[in-house]
Amino acid sequence: MKVLITGGCGFIGVNLVEKLLQSSEDYALRVIDNLSVGKKEDLARVSSFIERGRGEAGDGHWDRLELVVGDVTEKSLALNVCKGADAVVHLAASTGVIPSVEDPEQDFASNVVGTFNYLEAARLNGIGRFVFASSGAPLGEQVPPVHEEMVPHPISPYGAGKLCGEAYCSAYHGSFGLETVVLRFGNVYGPHSKHKGSVVAKFIRHIMASEPLPIYGDGNQTRDFIYVEDLTEAILLALNRADVGGEIFQIATHREHTVAEAAEELNRLGEKYLSMRSGIVFENERRGEIRRNYSDISKARRMLGFEPRHDLKQGLEKTFRWFLEERR
Ligand SMILES: NC(=O)c1ccc[n+]([C@@H]2O[C@H](COP(=O)([O-])OP(=O)(O)OC[C@H]3O[C@@H](n4cnc5c(N)ncnc54)[C@H](O)[C@@H]3O)[C@@H](O)[C@H]2O)c1
Repeated sequence: MKVLITGGCGFIGVNLVEKLLQSSEDYALRVIDNLSVGKKEDLARVSSFIERGRGEAGDGHWDRLELVVGDVTEKSLALNVCKGADAVVHLAASTGVIPSVEDPEQDFASNVVGTFNYLEAARLNGIGRFVFASSGAPLGEQVPPVHEEMVPHPISPYGAGKLCGEAYCSAYHGSFGLETVVLRFGNVYGPHSKHKGSVVAKFIRHIMASEPLPIYGDGNQTRDFIYVEDLTEAILLALNRADVGGEIFQIATHREHTVAEAAEELNRLGEKYLSMRSGIVFENERRGEIRRNYSDISKARRMLGFEPRHDLKQGLEKTFRWFLEERR
């Protein structure tokens, strides 16, 4: 199967490339990334690759792993790089709520125009399947566990942009028969996340710098933390399962953990591997932060056959060990 992965040099992209290349199926992968966050070296850590020019990529030839440097806002490039693909996994995005509040127009360009360009490129190239990386942000404040039938109320431009992408996926399935599969990721953590501002990566960076872990508020806010290897398994299922075109799935663990629990567990790992305890500093609660959040994943279990394999303890230990290896 020939799969075009947008944003494939980023955290989830690199893990997905590694997963697909290790799978028993025969995949040829083409990554498109503007290198604003992910770098060539990040991709090179999981496999050697061939870099192809922007015009060159449309000649119909696919190597095992290729990189095309470019931006998803460029429509003609989208049409070109999608030539010959069987499926698209659309990960490229300006990620995070805060950047979208600071610069809504930039968020709109990457996340709304970029998604539209790749749906159009998929339609015009007759591609069968389109997997879209969404998040909990379209739902906004809800009483957990959150699920696919809730009415979305985004409270940030990032959430609005992802909701717009979900809506276009639904429309392209309804109008053109494109098999779109929307995956709403929980709070993803794991290897290759050194650059991420998310809580697990940030806490580990603090431990490695012998600094206390900053918790905003009392630490009892909850999240559904999913280990990246479980998440990439869900993407693989979304690429291959029959009869899931036009569907949306919550992809998380169905478990609710407090941020303080994650901090405690990481401090325990700091003691185990580095013989030190960083402690915790409590800082002022951040405005707009969701208090409780976790997902009901019954639909993904039923229709995708998805089952997360790592509990928080196992996933955090694997992640911690990856960060340790990286600093050697
Ligand atoms: N990490 C999480 O916890 C999480 C949770 C929910 C949803 N998501 C979604 O998953 C996807 C991947 O997230 P990630 O954590 O790997 O982020 P990331 O920032 O590590 O990776 C995104 C990649 O996209 C590239 N990119 C950004 N804008 C681009 C553009 N305009 N054109 C081309 N490339 C561009 C970046 O260079 C980067 O390599 C995103 O769509 C994100 O919104 C992530």
